[in-house]
Amino acid sequence: MKLTVDALRAKFGTAKPHVLLVLGSGLGSLADSFLNAQAIDFADVPGFARAAVVGHKGRVVVGDLEGVSCIALQGRYHLYEGHSLESVTLPIRAIHQLGVDTMIVTNAAGGVNRSLRAGSLMLIDDHINLTGRNPLVGPVVEGETRFPDMTEAYDLKLRSLALAVAAEQGVALARGVYGGLLGPTYETPAEVRMLEILGVDAVGMSTVPEVIVARARGMRVLGISLITNEAAGITGENLSHTDVVTVGNNAADAFGRLIRGVIGGIGAGHDY
Ligand code: HPA
Repeated sequence: MKLTVDALRAKFGTAKPHVLLVLGSGLGSLADSFLNAQAIDFADVPGFARAAVVGHKGRVVVGDLEGVSCIALQGRYHLYEGHSLESVTLPIRAIHQLGVDTMIVTNAAGGVNRSLRAGSLMLIDDHINLTGRNPLVGPVVEGETRFPDMTEAYDLKLRSLALAVAAEQGVALARGVYGGLLGPTYETPAEVRMLEILGVDAVGMSTVPEVIVARARGMRVLGISLITNEAAGITGENLSHTDVVTVGNNAADAFGRLIRGVIGGIGAGHDY
């Protein structure tokens, strides 16, 4: 981890980013509009594994958005690619070490709740870890706690800010519970019915490990899912990754405006 942190410090020099943005499938373009941007490929960061998924650029980008210094992960590591939990969460740990205390995490997800249609945005109120794994298993990493409280994994004030920004922009922002699964198969219709019974509103294959590590380190977290498809069995149509990426790209504008508004609000101190 020290090598990773040193390399990021060497690359980004004096920039003191305040907010970490984790940009999921098809959502990476927001970091392309950073002002004074500097970027480094995941492949060039010591300790980072190589990204493999289509639609993911795999870069760390630092720059200003709405006057706030931000650091973005344009792409992320998934367990289903075969990466260890350590690789999946190293970027979060290293970026927290740079002094970043707030994380906005985004993902593409399938709508389990019938009211969530392709293109909907959902504020994550809570999650259910259905990966069967936990990144904190093992010796406690320095600066983390053994038994982190997860009562408010997703920060209440940041959620209020996101809802206020969405209302102001006239953007529909649903809210619900994110179910994080291992993947890489999409769910069967029977699994989707099970998830519905469990109280899952949107289902995906990321986010949960990153949020667990961020909370163990005391970071404040905001999560937003872009619903790229109705989950399996709901419409009767088959699911494809290409469709997921296309919906992500089509919704990128509304999504980007919302995130910008939230970051502007954080910069103005509205969430404190
Ligand atoms: N299931 C799991 N992960 C996903 C989905 C889905 O339907 N859509 C986008 N990511």
